[in-house]
Amino acid sequence: MTLDDAPAVAEPAQQAREEELLERVVASFDDAPDPRLRQLMQSLTRHLHAFVREVRLTEAEWQQAVDFLTATGHATDERRQEFILLSDVLGVSMQTITVNHEVHRDATEATVVGPFFVEGSPEVALGGDIAAGAPGEPCWVEGTVTDADGRPVPNALIEVWEADQDGLYDVQHGDDRTAGRGHLHTDDRGRYRFWAVTPTPYPIPDDGPVGRLLAASGRSPMRASHLHFLVRAAGFRTLVTHVFVRGDPLLEHDSVFGVRDSLVLDFEPRPAGTPTPDGRELAGRSWSQVRFDVVLAPAGAVTPIPTAGPRPVAGPAPGVP
Ligand SMILES: [Fe+2]
Repeated sequence: MTLDDAPAVAEPAQQAREEELLERVVASFDDAPDPRLRQLMQSLTRHLHAFVREVRLTEAEWQQAVDFLTATGHATDERRQEFILLSDVLGVSMQTITVNHEVHRDATEATVVGPFFVEGSPEVALGGDIAAGAPGEPCWVEGTVTDADGRPVPNALIEVWEADQDGLYDVQHGDDRTAGRGHLHTDDRGRYRFWAVTPTPYPIPDDGPVGRLLAASGRSPMRASHLHFLVRAAGFRTLVTHVFVRGDPLLEHDSVFGVRDSLVLDFEPRPAGTPTPDGRELAGRSWSQVRFDVVLAPAGAVTPIPTAGPRPVAGPAPGVP
């Protein structure tokens, strides 16, 4: 059966049976001691049932979905997070971030963390090189961290991580190397600077269930070229974002919907022989240069997550036809 020949609206008796089941499941969460859990589970139930009923989900499709989620779990380990990847390609990660990081004046926009952030990155000094041997064209990155009034934020923690020119993060090489990641702190005027490699496009890991889903959907696994940032300072909302390379044709087709116009920056190409900002000798290699000024929102700007919302009304959820 296809969507085209499925009945648009179930017969009244059938509809009543489906409604009765839905309401019984929703009511089963009525006594959840945590009101937030109750809200989440009842809303989730309504949306899931609305989906099943709208598409008239077949039993074979239900089994396929279970198999897919099982495979997604099996593909996940301490180095690979296939569930985050699934959330990313469905735009759920980006939507969650959008909901939780409301616009605050000129504060830098947040985007997905992605699956490749690793705790415990090496510390590099200001002006140091986070590449640590990662192959790629050297890239000088500098900027400031300020509040929304332009006041510098000293001693802000900046975590950066990126893929190498082969399109792989260090953890994907399978040899315990640490490269293309590091952390540093802003100076007393909120300034930072470091060497990295010029970002290049790469595919998200597409040899697992998420990759097969993309292929079956005619979607590309490619991500636009980017450099990841996490910026944290006392009194401010922690920023997780990345910056993109202006001119990259993949900006319009980023597989995880992470691109924001405000995060597309000019990575200025510097031909071989161009003097570097810190006098580093690059042995005849070209390099690039980018400026990224980070503006942090105050910690109070975090959108509070309601612990108890109004009871959802019966009927289709907003946006669910
Ligand atoms: Fe990335």
